[in-house]
Amino acid sequence: MKSIIIFLITTLIFSCSGPNGNRKTASAEGVSEEQPPTEQGEVWSAKEMHGARLIREQFRNALNTSTPEGAEMKRDAHPKHHGCVKAKLTIENSKLKDEYKVGLYKNNSSYNALVRFSNGDPNHKKADAKSDVRGMAIKLFDVPYTSYLEETGVDENLNVHDFVFMNSSEFFIKDPKHYGKFMDSVESGGFGLAFFAIGAFLNPKDKFVTILRKAFAMKVGNPLDIDYHSATPYKLGPTSSKMKFVSCKKTKEKVPKHAPDNFLRNRLAHYLDKQGTCFDFYIQPNNDKKRNNIENAQVKWKTRKSPFIKVGRLEVPKQPKKEVIARDQTCQDMSFNPWRAPSENRPMGGVNRIRLEVYVKQAKMRQNYNSVEYPGPSEFK
Ligand code: HEM
Repeated sequence: MKSIIIFLITTLIFSCSGPNGNRKTASAEGVSEEQPPTEQGEVWSAKEMHGARLIREQFRNALNTSTPEGAEMKRDAHPKHHGCVKAKLTIENSKLKDEYKVGLYKNNSSYNALVRFSNGDPNHKKADAKSDVRGMAIKLFDVPYTSYLEETGVDENLNVHDFVFMNSSEFFIKDPKHYGKFMDSVESGGFGLAFFAIGAFLNPKDKFVTILRKAFAMKVGNPLDIDYHSATPYKLGPTSSKMKFVSCKKTKEKVPKHAPDNFLRNRLAHYLDKQGTCFDFYIQPNNDKKRNNIENAQVKWKTRKSPFIKVGRLEVPKQPKKEVIARDQTCQDMSFNPWRAPSENRPMGGVNRIRLEVYVKQAKMRQNYNSVEYPGPSEFK
């Protein structure tokens, strides 16, 4: 038990979950992004909005204080990338019910894509061989629909669709209230955090420790070897859904004994220099709305009632190592946002609504600091 708590606190805790800063009560700066009307049992009121603004403010403070004078500002979550690689997503919707053929799934089409593989820890110098959360962000180009961010005037005619996924099928934070408590525990430092983790561990309804432990325990010898999940729900016309990309790579690579700190970047580029690979794309329509509460991001959706349906494939072709390496700065300058999705497939639930409040502003802040124009590189090259 003690080792779990220490493990959590020392290595895991901040990945895409909270910054290093303090929970301030001052009002958040900047205009809030427009939240969509609630539906399908979503809960969002002034109270949650206030909480989301506080969380955003904490992220802002953390990023300000963690960026050394004169250094490039990194992302506050998932700052270390292994590379951005070219890919193509093909949608094949024949197994979907007609009512689910909306937005991305409306037509059988292929889209060029760039994929950014990352580690979650806010310390971008952390060695790849250490326990961490792993991320995969995808940008599709020239999509024939407008995203939620375009509809609401945040983005201008980008015609892109982003996916922001991780190596866990559930998110370790339940809902905005839980997130607020977690942030408060971060503010109180080690003991507060330990108290939070112990409380979560002892509460059979809180899966915080279980979910985090599973994601961190995953040994990754190549970012192309593992599966990536939406973790949180997304709209699918009249229902909600989760998504996942399942690695096609048959031979999984081992973590070397004396792994160089950045060995995943070498493995990724080296593998693709020799051959291509792919990820099968699945969607899980929510057929059990009562049990699969979209306001609880920790719930595992049972596949017996809500099976995954294959809806396409992400092909990652063979590509020269030097091209992947040359894309390094582009990879840093880009921004990915799960709300770059059409309204019919928009993110759902309180955790995703917090992301709407946080991602745009954090990306703008980072890019502005680095003299990059928001939203950063958005072309396929
Ligand atoms: C309330 C919940 C969350 C918050 C507040 C949050 C916060 C953030 C922030 C601030 C960034 C950096 C954005 C930028 O500077 O461009 C980020 C990036 C990222 N987040 Fe989250 N996150 C949350 C939930 C999630 C979830 C549920 C996932 C995955 C299922 C996820 C996966 C990622 C990944 C992969 C990146 C890196 C994206 C890239 O490659 O640019 N996050 N997150």
